[in-house]
Amino acid sequence: MSRKILGISAFYHDSAAALVVDGRLVAAAQEERFTRIKHDFNFPTNAVDYCLKEGKITPEQLDYVVFYDKPFLKFDRLIETYLAYAPSGLRSFMMAMPLWLKTKLHLPREIRKAINGRYKGPIVYTVHHESHAASCFFPSPYEEAAILTMDGVGEWDTATIGHGQGNKISLLKSLEFPHSLGLLYSAFTYFTGFRVNSGEYKLMGLAPYGEPKYVKEILENLVDLKEDGSLAMNMEYFSYCEGLTMTNSRFDALFGGPPRKAESAITQREMDLAASIQAVTEEVVLRMARTAQKLTGSKNLCLAGGVALNCVANGKLLRAGIFDNVFITPASGDAGGALGAALFVHYQLLENQRATNGGDTLQGSFLGPRYSNEEIRSFLDKEGVKYHFFADEAELLGKVAQAMKEEKVVGWFQGRMEFGPRALGGRSIIGDARSEVMQSTMNLRIKYRESFRPFAPCVLAEDVAQYFELDRESPYMLLVADVRKELRCDLTKEQRQAMKDPDLRKRVNVKRSSLPAITHVDMSARIQTVDEARHGRYYRLMKEFKRQTGCGVIINTSFNIRGEPIVCTPQDAYRCFVATEMDVLVLENCILYKSEQPQQDASTRKSYIDTFKLD
Ligand SMILES: [Fe+2]
Repeated sequence: MSRKILGISAFYHDSAAALVVDGRLVAAAQEERFTRIKHDFNFPTNAVDYCLKEGKITPEQLDYVVFYDKPFLKFDRLIETYLAYAPSGLRSFMMAMPLWLKTKLHLPREIRKAINGRYKGPIVYTVHHESHAASCFFPSPYEEAAILTMDGVGEWDTATIGHGQGNKISLLKSLEFPHSLGLLYSAFTYFTGFRVNSGEYKLMGLAPYGEPKYVKEILENLVDLKEDGSLAMNMEYFSYCEGLTMTNSRFDALFGGPPRKAESAITQREMDLAASIQAVTEEVVLRMARTAQKLTGSKNLCLAGGVALNCVANGKLLRAGIFDNVFITPASGDAGGALGAALFVHYQLLENQRATNGGDTLQGSFLGPRYSNEEIRSFLDKEGVKYHFFADEAELLGKVAQAMKEEKVVGWFQGRMEFGPRALGGRSIIGDARSEVMQSTMNLRIKYRESFRPFAPCVLAEDVAQYFELDRESPYMLLVADVRKELRCDLTKEQRQAMKDPDLRKRVNVKRSSLPAITHVDMSARIQTVDEARHGRYYRLMKEFKRQTGCGVIINTSFNIRGEPIVCTPQDAYRCFVATEMDVLVLENCILYKSEQPQQDASTRKSYIDTFKLD
C-alpha cells in the first residue's frame, strides 16, 4: 500500500517540508525560498503546498505528518534551564514565551490549520537527533554505517553517535545541553562579529588567515575535552543559557576585549580566534568519529547536523582514515530534519525494507520546484523581455560556455531547485575559475559584498584528482581539499608582501594558482564534483566549457545577492539578474544578455538590494 509521509521542520531556523512516498524522496524545500525571508522560521506553509503539488496529492491523502523534534521535551529544557539560572534569565525567557504559548505547544492544531484543516491522520514527533541521523543514514549508499550528528541543540541532545543497519537506526551515545560543539562554534561566530546560525561559514573561511594561537586558552578555560570527544563547557564564560548573547565579560577578558562589532574591520585577533576554534572543532570531530568507529566497528560514517556543514573539518576527517567511506547529507542543518523525520517514519516506524545499490538516493539534492520552458517564455513574453530561445541543447551550451570563456558572469537557472544551503548547479552563478578578476567581479558587482573568501569550484567528477588532492566524489560541496601542487604559483616578492596586508581582500586576490578564483589563501578549495547522472545539463555545460578551454573547473556560487535567499522562480532570477551586473542569464533553454536589456535605474537597483538584510 502506498504510504505518503510529510515531514516538517519549523520554529527555530530554516523551516522546511519534505514529502516521501513509498520511501522515495518526492520533494523537499525550505520555506525561505518562497517567502524570500532568509532562514525563515515560520511554519512552512508554502513549502508544504509545494511538496503536495509536486506529489500531486491533497492533504487528505497523506498517511502521516511528522514533526522533526519533540516540542514538549524542548520546552522542558527551556524551563529547566531557566530555573537553573533564575532569575538572571528572565528577560530571554519572557522573550521566548509568546511563541511557545501561542504556537509551539499547540503543534497539532497549528499543523492541521496550516494544511487547510483537511488532514485528519496521525501526527508523529521524532527526536531531533533521530531526524538528523535519519537524514544522513537512510539516503546514504550504505547498508550499515556509524552515524555522527552534531549541532547547536535539539531537545536536550547536542551530539549523538548512532548505528544504522538496514532500515533501523539506534542512537548509542549522546552529549547534552548546555555542552555543545555547535554552540561553542556559534559563540565564536558571535564573538568575531558574525551572525549566529548563518555566519559560521564565514568564520570557517576566515580561519586560514590566522594562527591557532588560542587553542590552549580554549581547552584550558572554556572546554574540558575528553578523550572520547565528549566535552564539558565552562558556563562561567557563556551566557546563552540565561542571556541574550552567546558570551559574557569573562570571555571578553580572556580574549583581550569585547566582541568585534558586525561589519567593522576584521583584526588579527578574529583571524587567530577563527583558526583556533576551527582547530578545536576538528579535534572534537576526530575524537567523536574515533569513538563512533569503536562503538560500531563500521567502515562507513554518515554525518549530519549543522556542524557537518564544516567542510574543512569533514575533509580532515576523511583524510584521517578513521572510516573508509564518509557520507555527508547536503541539508545537514535543521531544514534536513524534515526529510529525515519523514524517512524515519517510513523505515524505522513502518518497518519498510531498505535496499541500497551503491549510490545515495538524494538525487543530487535537486528536490525543489522546476519551471518549464513554456512557463519561462510566457513570463518573459508577458514582461516584454528580450531573449533567445535555443531548442538545441548543444547550441545553447556552446553559447553559454563561450560567454564564460570571455569572463562573463552567468546566472544559471536549470531544473529543480536544490534542497539545503548550497547551490549545486540548479540555481547558481557561474564563471571562469581561471580568471584573475572573477573573484572581485562576482563579489562587488554581483553579490554586493566584499569578501575575504574565494568562491567554490565545480569540477568534472572524472577530473577531480587532476586538480585537487581528492580521490573521490564530493557532489554536495561538503569536502575541502588542497589544490594540487603543480597548479600552484611561485609568489613574487610583492605578492608575498600582499599576503600580509591587513586588508584580507588584497590577500585573497593574490594569484596563488592557475585557478585563482577558487583557491583559498591556504591553497584549499571547497569542492563540488559534477557528474552526468546527478547534474545532467550542468555536467554537459562543463564538458563543453572544457572542450572550448581545456579546463574542467568552473566557479559556482549561489544565485542571490548578500542576505537574499537563493532564487526559486524565474521571476526571482530575472529580478536578481537586472538588479546586478550579471552579464548573462540562462533560464532553461532561454538566454538573456544584459547588453540587450533596458538600463535599470540606480534607485530600482538600490531598492532591490535594500530588500534584504545583511547576513
Ligand atoms: Fe539540529
